[in-house]
Amino acid sequence: MATDHVKVAIVGAGTIGLSFAALHLMKNPNCTVTIYDTRPDLKEYMETKLPEFLVDADVKECTSRVSTASSLAQTVSEANIVQEQGPENASFKRTTWAQIEHYAPQEALFWSSTSGIPASEQSKDMKDQTRLIVVHPYNPPHIMPLLEVVPPPSTSQEVIDRTLEYWRNLGRVPVLIRKECTGFVANRLAFALFREACSLVAQGIVSVEDLDSVVQASMGPRWTVAGPFKSYHAGGGEGGLRSFMDKIGGTVQECWDASDKDVKTGSIVVGEKWQEDVCRQTDEAYGVFDTAERDYKTKAVLEAVSR
Ligand SMILES: NC(=O)c1ccc[n+]([C@@H]2O[C@H](COP(=O)([O-])OP(=O)(O)OC[C@H]3O[C@@H](n4cnc5c(N)ncnc54)[C@H](O)[C@@H]3O)[C@@H](O)[C@H]2O)c1
Repeated sequence: MATDHVKVAIVGAGTIGLSFAALHLMKNPNCTVTIYDTRPDLKEYMETKLPEFLVDADVKECTSRVSTASSLAQTVSEANIVQEQGPENASFKRTTWAQIEHYAPQEALFWSSTSGIPASEQSKDMKDQTRLIVVHPYNPPHIMPLLEVVPPPSTSQEVIDRTLEYWRNLGRVPVLIRKECTGFVANRLAFALFREACSLVAQGIVSVEDLDSVVQASMGPRWTVAGPFKSYHAGGGEGGLRSFMDKIGGTVQECWDASDKDVKTGSIVVGEKWQEDVCRQTDEAYGVFDTAERDYKTKAVLEAVSR
């Protein structure tokens, strides 16, 4: 899909909606963006908040291409792309997509930002269930390049191709996820690490702050230049990943077994006693977190590794 003269409709303008609006405005100078959200102060909220997402951009020029709408019908009636990031609630998404389908042009692309409700579930009340796909961002999408594109089996190849093309033209990294699954891929990986992190802190092996230091001083920088397979392939020497598994595979298995044991014994289940201690330690270590600093530094890292 060409990136010129694109009309983007943003439905739901919370954390993710505003970030996506900023992304389109910054990366596609020829697009216009219409925002719809049920909050009563939408216009003022958008005028105050959106500029915070327009990092290193011409704020006046970008905001000249954005408007708010007072109804869903008005928001989507001329859209080429409808992107939904309302509440994470299956019945809201089902109802909303059926309405959007009714009002939007026949050729418009339909993307949901959901963290976990499959498109095949959200599209149940739509007449044409081949149109809707998930485009799951890694928060915040105006900084993070990844977009997980998760089509249900019914989706047409044309919808997938147009979606991938649009994001590639904007310099993002859309990755096609081949099957709908719980949490898609990025969160599955992130939460696997998070489970280990919580478990190690809960067992008193390491503090919250020291665990964060371990990640920031090792896997963090490594993974910006090579993912886990490439990293361990490099780490195995001449024999690559095969050699790595021959040499360290026993330790890898012991770590996996130890981790499985913690889950099986119930010592690392969400909502159990350990959780309060981990949350308290995190509050004490960081208090209220400055996301502006996080985003500024992440952007600088991404720029450095793309040289
Ligand atoms: N926050 C994250 O880290 C993250 C990451 C990836 C995906 N997501 C997904 O993005 C979506 C939104 O998440 P969020 O964190 O931005 O939530 P949020 O609560 O910040 O924003 C949701 C917005 O939807 C609006 N809304 C409520 N009812 C509405 C309606 N009927 N029509 C239009 N707008 C309505 C709310 O006013 C609010 O501004 C969810 O599906 C979530 O799973 C979130």
